[in-house]
Order: sequence, then structure tokens, then C-alpha cells
Amino acid sequence: MQRSKTDNTNLAAKLELRRHFLRKYHCTGRTEVLDCCQGDGRIWSVLGAEFNCGYWGVDIKPRKGRLKLDSVRILQQPGWPQTVIDIDTYGSPWKHWAAMLPNVVRPVTVFLTIEATMFSGAVDRWALSAMGLRLSRLRLPPTICGKLTDFSLRYCLALCYNRGIDIVEAAQMDCPGNARYIGVRLVPQSGVTKAHGPGDDHWVDGSHL
Ligand SMILES: C[S@@+](CC[C@H](N)C(=O)[O-])C[C@H]1O[C@@H](n2cnc3c(N)ncnc32)[C@H](O)[C@@H]1O
Repeated sequence: MQRSKTDNTNLAAKLELRRHFLRKYHCTGRTEVLDCCQGDGRIWSVLGAEFNCGYWGVDIKPRKGRLKLDSVRILQQPGWPQTVIDIDTYGSPWKHWAAMLPNVVRPVTVFLTIEATMFSGAVDRWALSAMGLRLSRLRLPPTICGKLTDFSLRYCLALCYNRGIDIVEAAQMDCPGNARYIGVRLVPQSGVTKAHGPGDDHWVDGSHL
């Protein structure tokens, strides 16, 4: 049975993940948020009432009262001032991630949603291609997809090291339906004393949040 796409499956988990990072890294002063996938704007309408945030949201789909824009194009330009980047796509966040990395010039918190389609017979093609696997029609059993997706997730996150950016914390919420919600705190290397990457003890799952 195919899951229908809903904008906010597991809203509670998405909120909890964001609260964890906002409390830890954004508790003083005002934080500017770039919502790259505004959808119904539910996440930040809740968090905006709890935290001191400025907010700019865009979406690629047109809707009255909303700015229609491909947010990859924002992130690939230098100079965006926000320190929270929310990439809550239906599918793959990696195009956004790769576009953003060259322009991370200060500590930022990034939220990524990786949706279930990638776990049910198809692995994210952007991630495969980044790993040098250019297979045009790859259909794999779900168990292999799961492992490959795990690996590709760590591989894609680690692309930040090529840009001189460290991961000081990465956390994941696992939810029913296999969607993964990930939060990452990034700091350009000149700004940290000790780096931690996915795979070590700073890579935590939702039970630690
Ligand atoms: C899961 S929904 C977002 C839900 C939203 N975060 C909320 O709080 O209600 C995913 C949204 O991302 C949008 N989207 C996907 N890729 C995008 C892109 N490259 N630029 C802008 N919006 C995008 C989709 O149109 C869709 O509305």
C-alpha cells in the first residue's frame, strides 16, 4: 500500500527535534529562520510562539500569500543571514544541503527531512550519484535499501568536511513510516576547538532528545 503524502506526518517528532536544538543553540537573542519548504507553515507557526524568531518561508508550489521560489536557489547564493535552515522536503534534502554548504560562514542549525519513499525500493538518486553510483534503474530489496540509505545519509552529511565545516552535533528522530528527521549543528572550522561527526558519540537518536 502506498502512503499518501501529508505535509506534517509526525509533527510532534519534528517539533521535538527543533526544540532540542533551539534550546541548546538559540536561547539568547533573536534567531532568524529560513523555512525552505513552507508548506502549510505548521512547524514554525508553533515554534514561533515558543521562541524568539524572525521567519522567512518560501515554497516551490504557488499558493496565495506565499512566496513561490525554489529554495535551493536561495541557499546557493552567498549572504543569507539566517542561522536556522529548515529543509522539510517530502523527499530528498541533499540538493539543498549541497547548495548550502559553500555558503555556511557562521554557526548554523539545519533540519533535514528524509522521507519514506527512499526506503521502499528506491534509494535517493542524488545521494547515490554523490557516492559515485550512477545507476539509472536501481531497484533493490528494502533491506539493502535501508543499509544503503544509512550509508548515503552519513556520506552526504560528511560532505560538509570538504567545505571546512564541522558537525558539532547531529541528532535523529526515527518515526513510524520510516521518515527520518535530522538536526545538525554546523560550525565553520575556524570557530570550533573539537569536531564531532556522524558515527561518533555526538550522533544520537531521538531517545536522547
Ligand atoms: C512536508 S511539506 C512542508 C511542511 C512545512 N514544513 C510545515 O511546517 O507545514 C514539504 C513542502 O516542501 C516544498 N518543497 C519541496 N522542494 C522545494 C524546493 N526546492 N523549494 C521550495 N519548496 C520546496 C513542497 O512544495 C511542500 O510544500
